[in-house]
Amino acid sequence: MKGTFYVVGVGPGDPELMTLKSARILERSQVWLSPAARRNGESTALAIASGAVSTAGKEILTHHFPMRKVCSGRTPVSDVKDAWEQAVDLISEQLVSGRDVSMLTLGDPAIYSTGFYVCETLLERNPEASVEIIPGISAMGATSAAVRMPICLGDDKFAVIPAVFEIEKLREILVQFDAVVFMKVHRAMDRLVPLLEELNLLDGSVLVERTGMAGERIWPDLKRAMNRKLHYFSTIIVRKS
Ligand SMILES: C[S@@+](CC[C@H](N)C(=O)[O-])C[C@H]1O[C@@H](n2cnc3c(N)ncnc32)[C@H](O)[C@@H]1O
Repeated sequence: MKGTFYVVGVGPGDPELMTLKSARILERSQVWLSPAARRNGESTALAIASGAVSTAGKEILTHHFPMRKVCSGRTPVSDVKDAWEQAVDLISEQLVSGRDVSMLTLGDPAIYSTGFYVCETLLERNPEASVEIIPGISAMGATSAAVRMPICLGDDKFAVIPAVFEIEKLREILVQFDAVVFMKVHRAMDRLVPLLEELNLLDGSVLVERTGMAGERIWPDLKRAMNRKLHYFSTIIVRKS
């Protein structure tokens, strides 16, 4: 294989939050692999990347990755695994012909990103493939900046967790850590907000919807957001101190 596969973090929404390195790698990649959560749906990562780097002359391959829970160490359901395999088919074809492929990833590839699964699938098939991960600014970093609230200071311990976990797990984490970042909160508010209230943590909590995107909204009072239809791009920071 002659080309290189890059997993590129494009940041949380504002194209100005893309790093110089992400922009440079995208400029020189002939092919962009753009993930879409829905079949024939739009790709948020593509909208961000194309706000910073021109798509002129690029081949854009849009690929649907189903949004399903994947548990570490367990084989995912077949349509998820199939999507990774099909992505690797597309990527390999380009790499063999000497073209570089950049897979666009929202935020930072280090945090709940499909990019690493695709990377692993490619390397299982072709251990010699050339692969690079380009970090990006995470949604939690941008959310912290938007509300001018640090996530952790001094000797604080902090955890990041999808709010879709079982309630007892969420309680355990809230008790144990000084700060908690909750992702994927949009459908978990009816369980999460009463739990934060019970633990007397509502005053130290803030929700930001669509950080750095058009329609960004800050919810300092989580109870007011509880019965609203929130966007998937919503993150909560909870700090005890
Ligand atoms: C699959 S995770 C991807 C995280 C991403 N890799 C990162 O570094 O932030 C998706 C979750 O990230 C959070 N998220 C992503 N972009 C966001 C944004 N612009 N504003 C608020 N939350 C966002 C939401 O909690 C969403 O449910």
